[in-house]
Amino acid sequence: MRVKAESGEKDIMRAFFALCGALLPLLAVGAPPADPCVKVAGKTFAAPTDVLACQKSFPFNETLRQNVLTNMERVFDFFTFEDYYLKSPPPFQESTVNIRETLAKINNTHFKTDYDFNIAIYDFTTQLNDGHTRWFPDCYTLYQNILPAPVVNIEVDGVQGVFVAPDSVEFLSQLGDEFTSFFDDLGFDWKRLAGAKVVEIEGRDPYDYVDFIAKTVSGNYLDHGVRVNSVFSSYRVSGTNFSQRIGDLAGPTVVRQTSLHMKLIPVHSRAVESVDIPFLANYLGLPFTDGPSFWAANCAANDLTNGVDLKGFRVQDLPRKLAKAEIIDKSGGNGINLPPPFLPNTTSVPGSEGVIKSFILPDNKTGVMFLGSFAGDFDRFQADVVAAISAFQKAKVSQLLLDLTNNGGGFVCLGQFLHQYLSGSQIGYPGFVSTNRANPLAQTIVAADIDLGLDARFTFYTADNCMAGNQVLEWTDLDTEIKTAGVKDDPHAPPDLLVSGNFRHNWRTAWSFFDENVPIAYESELPTFRFNYTAETYNKPQALWEFAAKQLFG
Ligand SMILES: *[C@@H]1O[C@H](CO)[C@@H](O)[C@H](O)[C@H]1NC(C)=O
Ligand SMILES: *[C@@H]1O[C@H](CO)[C@@H](O)[C@H](O)[C@H]1NC(C)=O
Ligand SMILES: *[C@@H]1O[C@H](CO)[C@@H](O)[C@H](O)[C@H]1NC(C)=O
Ligand SMILES: *[C@@H]1O[C@H](CO)[C@@H](O)[C@H](O)[C@H]1NC(C)=O
Ligand SMILES: *[C@@H]1O[C@H](CO)[C@@H](O)[C@H](O)[C@H]1NC(C)=O
Ligand SMILES: *[C@@H]1O[C@H](CO)[C@@H](O)[C@H](O)[C@H]1NC(C)=O
Repeated sequence: MRVKAESGEKDIMRAFFALCGALLPLLAVGAPPADPCVKVAGKTFAAPTDVLACQKSFPFNETLRQNVLTNMERVFDFFTFEDYYLKSPPPFQESTVNIRETLAKINNTHFKTDYDFNIAIYDFTTQLNDGHTRWFPDCYTLYQNILPAPVVNIEVDGVQGVFVAPDSVEFLSQLGDEFTSFFDDLGFDWKRLAGAKVVEIEGRDPYDYVDFIAKTVSGNYLDHGVRVNSVFSSYRVSGTNFSQRIGDLAGPTVVRQTSLHMKLIPVHSRAVESVDIPFLANYLGLPFTDGPSFWAANCAANDLTNGVDLKGFRVQDLPRKLAKAEIIDKSGGNGINLPPPFLPNTTSVPGSEGVIKSFILPDNKTGVMFLGSFAGDFDRFQADVVAAISAFQKAKVSQLLLDLTNNGGGFVCLGQFLHQYLSGSQIGYPGFVSTNRANPLAQTIVAADIDLGLDARFTFYTADNCMAGNQVLEWTDLDTEIKTAGVKDDPHAPPDLLVSGNFRHNWRTAWSFFDENVPIAYESELPTFRFNYTAETYNKPQALWEFAAKQLFG
């Protein structure tokens, strides 16, 4: 539930209703297809109107609402930051919300479709702006809605502005013929928008609209500025490849909009044009042929949705229990590579095949480690750091840049490993003092784990689990803790989900080493230096590194 209706949101709704209105006469003439999912089945790309018709064909179901809300209510008992949300400290006031009141309100709201209910809770948890605490309904997050006009914030002639990404043709063409032919068939020339200066979006100043997306769509980060960055397109590592994020304005992972209105000035023109840019939805889910098979493949609970009792497994078959704290970026699914002209062309060093990419810049003095993630392969990450640093030392590199662009986190201990490998253990404990919430069920789990003699191979709760720092539990992890402790019958235990989804939560708080009364997430540490992106640097890592090395090291 949104705290406050935004005018841009109303505009979107108005556009949406106008569109529905336009469709009504058609429906009156020809009978609507019995099953709207048939029309989008088997298609990698589909018109958002058709996707919405399919996704909204599942009626609201009170049993599912009670199941999901009861699950959420009880998982929220484990959430370490709940009290902070009642009055979020500055500069994070934007995230303030009464969680219990919002859940009660969603319980009392009339919804027409299952989509509407799920979008309400998706938006509510997204706007907690904690990527570690979110509801992901698989049924509705499996289409990425793509606007063929990703935007960037770059400086041109000394002034910053919002532009359609200049490389959008090289970038989005990688989505293939099915993507480009949709626009060809509509007679919509999206390629000529590349590099255009944006002067208005949905009737608003472009930066206002960017703020609106940062507030309502981006989520993940308490810091507003970090969310603003994620509205724009920028480079990242996806899987183990250099890739480009479409950005939250042009690539949200839930389908709602069918088009976006922009006023812009194309390259080589001085005239302002008014353009309605159509979205196209990219399917990233499992195959289906109609509504029932769509539901079965993507929406109904499956074997991986809920947890298991690990006592039934042989110890050697258990996965290593390693604490994680990462955001989930569903938009990584399409993994569009960074177009080759933008890839680094300088010497890469050993240990660059995973999520870390390390280079020596042409000045021969600067080593760069681009740390795309702290997730991926736990052991390999450490080996790759060692390999890169050894290569830098051998090459007599004397200065080091660490690039954490779009690094969404991962294994907590890899952050600690990197910190200590680079600066030594003398520097002290890097902010890993942590606590978790001692709600009644948590206490029951600990007592049961002690009675059963379980250790860290089976549970995150036991004392020999030496992990410290912020930690996330996926719903399936928490349910596994509960089932392994044998306390699923406890009245506080969340029920198994009947739908395919994940209500993940921030299970452990790490306390700031600046002030051990403040969770590290609420410690605002603004950058010492700020530089504007340019057309040359927003998607070209090496150009950015060379610029940064000059600015920082001279
Ligand atoms: C609602 O969902 C439940 C659980 O999946 C199902 O058993 C029930 O038939 C559904 N109700 C309706 C009216 O479809
Ligand atoms: C939702 O409201 C109904 C009616 O007041 C109540 O019976 C039910 O327990 C509530 N569900 C949740 C999850 O709080
Ligand atoms: C970045 O752009 C802003 C707005 O155009 C400008 O005021 C500022 O001086 C620029 N910053 C730098 C470091 O060039
Ligand atoms: C990485 O890029 C290569 C070459 O374009 C491609 O074949 C591969 O599938 C990509 N891998 C991932 C994980 O995206
Ligand atoms: C860096 O090293 C390479 C290879 O040894 C050499 O060709 C190049 O001239 C060096 N560049 C600078 C700036 O010293
Ligand atoms: C390599 O990339 C840098 C930075 O983008 C660029 O300045 C340089 O011209 C490129 N060199 C070659 C040989 O393409």
